Amino acid sequence: MRVRLIARVAASLAIALLSVLRVLAADGGFYSAAQAVRGEVLYEQYCMTCHGAKLEGNPAAPLAGPVFQGCWADGQHTLDDLFYIVRTQMPYSAPGSLAKQQYVDVIAYVLKMNGYEPGETELTPIASTLKKITLQPR
Ligand code: HEC
Repeated sequence: MRVRLIARVAASLAIALLSVLRVLAADGGFYSAAQAVRGEVLYEQYCMTCHGAKLEGNPAAPLAGPVFQGCWADGQHTLDDLFYIVRTQMPYSAPGSLAKQQYVDVIAYVLKMNGYEPGETELTPIASTLKKITLQPR
């Protein structure tokens, strides 16, 4: 009898622990892995010629690494600032030509290439949500 009780308590503790871990994981990422895959396809099509195959910036500015993070993970800018620049100015040759969803998908890929881990929720093109996210340097 007592053994069965202990087993049941242990099982419910394990379930509780698992759900806590799942919540922590969801908090960790600002974008999902699937979204970054969509963003990669868009990046290759619309951004790579100017920003380089590895986002190293050739011939335009790098979108990954210390120079990029010095600007966008400086504690002053939010993801909404980055979203604004990208959706109003890029691609340089055809600004505003992508859908808002495509712009956030590309940003998800850029975040991935800067070492930010994916989570369970997608990044959405909603200013009030994006304004709450300030990148920390990686
Ligand atoms: C025709 C070339 C071209 C294409 C295509 C292009 N860009 Fe750019 N991008 C530029 C130029 C030029 C700048 C201005 C800064 C510079 O001189 O590199 C810039 C700047 C940026 C910046 C600001 C960089 C910073 O830290 O100041 C971001 C972010 C950016 N581009 C993202 C994108 C994304 C995302 C795409 C694809 C949707 C894209 N760009 C497509 C040429 C391009």
